[in-house]
Amino acid sequence: MAGVTDKPFRQLCRRLGAALAVSEMVAADTSLWGTRKSIRRLDHEGEEGPIAVQLLGSDPEMMARAAAFNASLGAQIIDINMGCPAKKVCRKAAGSALLDDEGRVREILRAVVAAVDVPVTLKIRTGRDPANRNGARIARIAERSGIQALTVHGRTRACGFSGEAEYDTIRAIKQSVSIPVIANGDIDTPEKARHVLALTGADALMIGRAARGRPWIFRDIAHFLQTGRSRPEPDPSWVVDILLDHLGRLYDFYGENQGVRIARKHITWFSKRHPEAAQFRSIINRTDSAKQQLQHVRNFFLGLQAKEELAA
Ligand SMILES: Cc1cc2nc3c(=O)[nH]c(=O)nc-3n(C[C@H](O)[C@H](O)[C@H](O)COP(=O)(O)O)c2cc1C
Repeated sequence: MAGVTDKPFRQLCRRLGAALAVSEMVAADTSLWGTRKSIRRLDHEGEEGPIAVQLLGSDPEMMARAAAFNASLGAQIIDINMGCPAKKVCRKAAGSALLDDEGRVREILRAVVAAVDVPVTLKIRTGRDPANRNGARIARIAERSGIQALTVHGRTRACGFSGEAEYDTIRAIKQSVSIPVIANGDIDTPEKARHVLALTGADALMIGRAARGRPWIFRDIAHFLQTGRSRPEPDPSWVVDILLDHLGRLYDFYGENQGVRIARKHITWFSKRHPEAAQFRSIINRTDSAKQQLQHVRNFFLGLQAKEELAA
């Protein structure tokens, strides 16, 4: 997820039970790679494998070159983005706009598969719009082009992020290919995870937004699927240890100035379910030093812990 799954967040999710954490999308156009932002996106130093890098683009040759370059930097899986509905991406006929052009899909997939020795995977939506759910056709093209796993977000390009994800098309896609299919979209609890697995017959699940501020969801889902029992909500004192550690890693990765700013959204996600979150957020948004940020976070969560213990 762009703006979310940087290296510190991928590592956090992996520590808390995610089997795989894919990079933020990287533009295949290497002329955009000089910026500090893209250099950071290419950094996998110290990351536990398999290292999966997602590429975004529309030109088969450019995609192939970018894939080979990332593989030479250590990518162990190349994932191709044909799911992003953002206007600035679709205007360049990349992301989910490619679902309209099955010939181009085939060319890109074949070029990338031929360019690298590592597995190539694909992320798609269910189709262009609800009247044109061509996901199963794209899936068959992917399979024939050498794609080794397919993730399907249960919305069409036209749906953006509105409405609810639907899983019938994911089920139809799963039935139409023999490569592993990963179901995605609106999975936010262990119960929903079980439901989507049962409904789609998918081989695995991908979780996006529900991991923001709740990265232990991976561990909770795995536990529920294995035992049929839910884990209790973690204590604020456990959560704050996770968050403080994550903030430290953000400061190290981005430097204090930028790290403090990037940390704000994570603090907001971690605290949003709690009463007084809005007031806390406004304090955090006015805090510029790492030391003060850590102090505010510690006070907020330890205050919650004290309240919970009093109420118990
Ligand atoms: C802020 C944000 C950034 C995203 N960036 C990407 C991306 O870079 N690549 C991608 O394949 N999907 C991206 N997505 C889509 C998610 O991977 C996922 O398919 C979608 O959010 C539905 O799953 P969810 O309900 O579990 O979040 C992004 C979604 C959000 C909300």
